[in-house]
Amino acid sequence: MDFQIEPANIGFLDALYLIEKQCFDVDAFTKRQIAYLLSDYSAIALVAKAGPVIAGFIIAQMETDSVDFGHIITLNVAQVYRGKKVATRMLEAIEVLIKLRGADECRLEVREDNYAAINLYTSLRYQCICQLKGYYGSGHGLYFKKSL
Ligand SMILES: CC(C)(COP(=O)(O)OP(=O)(O)OC[C@H]1O[C@@H](n2cnc3c(N)ncnc32)[C@H](O)[C@@H]1OP(=O)(O)O)[C@@H](O)C(=O)NCCC(=O)NCCS
Repeated sequence: MDFQIEPANIGFLDALYLIEKQCFDVDAFTKRQIAYLLSDYSAIALVAKAGPVIAGFIIAQMETDSVDFGHIITLNVAQVYRGKKVATRMLEAIEVLIKLRGADECRLEVREDNYAAINLYTSLRYQCICQLKGYYGSGHGLYFKKSL
């Protein structure tokens, strides 16, 4: 199946929220949070489309502590499109855009029992830096980084 990666905009909000709810039960972003992210100047949002259908989306925010970095805020692929490298393609695309905005690093958090996502990040050379105790309330998180 052919997927097109393109910028997301507020017109996609309903579709993105449906996928978000399908992907997460307790930790899902609200529709309002997704709307905020889609309109935030410091955010980069992409969708993967299979024809007219949105198969997945990814949102990162540009942040700074000691260095500038892209922070992957959410990454979701609708159930029926999983296992087809949609997430891989979206991550690779957003890394290019993060680099273009001047950052040499990408960071993200993941639940420590989310083996699919951990395998995905590891396959793309993200490295686990530390555990984030209680990060998800009901579970611990892991903090991953990648040099771009
Ligand atoms: C995690 C998720 C984004 C992966 O999306 P995807 O498009 O199916 O992933 P890809 O096809 O690009 O997979 C790339 C690699 O990730 C790993 N992976 C993906 N799904 C996996 C699974 N169910 N079990 C184990 N490893 C998996 C594999 O290493 C895979 O490489 P391979 O196909 O050569 O084995 C998707 O399962 C999802 O949306 N999950 C719910 C939301 C979520 O957890 N998001 C991440 C939050 S941090």
